[in-house]
Amino acid sequence: MTPAGRPPERPGRLTRAVRERPLVERRPASRGDGARRRPPAIVVQGVSKTYVLGAIRVPALTDVSLRIERGDFVAIMGSSGSGKSTLMNILGCLDLASTGRYLIDGVDVLRMDEDDLADLRNRKIGFVFQSFNLVSRTSALANVELPLSYAGVDRRTRRRRAEEALTSVGMAKRFHHQPSELSGGQQQRVAVARALVTNPTMILADEPTGNLDSHSTADVLRIFADLNAEGRTVVLITHEPDVAGQAKRVITLTDGRVSEDRRLAALDAAPPVLRAQKSTHHLYREARP
Ligand SMILES: Nc1ncnc2c1ncn2[C@@H]1O[C@H](COP(=O)(O)OP(=O)(O)OP(=O)(O)O)[C@@H](O)[C@H]1O
Ligand SMILES: [Mg+2]
Repeated sequence: MTPAGRPPERPGRLTRAVRERPLVERRPASRGDGARRRPPAIVVQGVSKTYVLGAIRVPALTDVSLRIERGDFVAIMGSSGSGKSTLMNILGCLDLASTGRYLIDGVDVLRMDEDDLADLRNRKIGFVFQSFNLVSRTSALANVELPLSYAGVDRRTRRRRAEEALTSVGMAKRFHHQPSELSGGQQQRVAVARALVTNPTMILADEPTGNLDSHSTADVLRIFADLNAEGRTVVLITHEPDVAGQAKRVITLTDGRVSEDRRLAALDAAPPVLRAQKSTHHLYREARP
């Protein structure tokens, strides 16, 4: 696996030209009334996932159906082994469901070719993991530039965009630090910068605050809230009720099934954390030269 937890790229992928056509096709409005209704960011229909280990079958997800609108901020909760990471891997196109359908922006992922899927993972979705998954002995800047390298972006643009992303998460003074020279919270902010450097429309985070103290947890949550306030869809897995309480909607999995789906704030409302306090992400942006 690559540092960002993605399947290894094929040789030569680094030099692949940036494609001009849209990542994901748009469907024309289905009604003739001029109202262009955009499809939801995510539609999961009757998805099941069973891992097969020799003669043993492990049902991880059973008949899960979900619809997540663009701009929502969703926390996924559930006890260990309830299927949260399995669901996240399917949402991020890192794994395929055994049965059922999954549509991103109205397009069935089974109909996408390898290039579309690679583009989706590299540019449209930003991933953040509990264990940061940064490349060791490599500077923060180089780590954040990595997804842009995969996307074939030129060196000067890569550097500028990585600097901007790091600055936006308050890491402007740590460009040349390696992961071992950063605190856990700082490493996770570098990982968030790496997730947002491609300007993705969706952020998927699997226990992003699981290894952080309360101060760093608050920092990272405020950044996610700000990314959501900018219009990005955020889906975050967490064990912590306090963290889930900062989302606009909480979905609970029990034994691979959706057992609860609760809305905490309206889809178009500011995320709870932004209503409670001013965002540091915003302050970092204001402070940018
Ligand atoms: N690669 C795999 N092969 C076989 N079984 C797996 C695999 N990955 C997960 N499982 C099983 O699927 C079930 C769901 O696992 P999953 O990792 O999705 O749980 P989770 O909710 O993310 O748990 P945690 O909170 O501990 O991270 C578990 O019973 C697990 O043992
Ligand atoms: Mg997990």
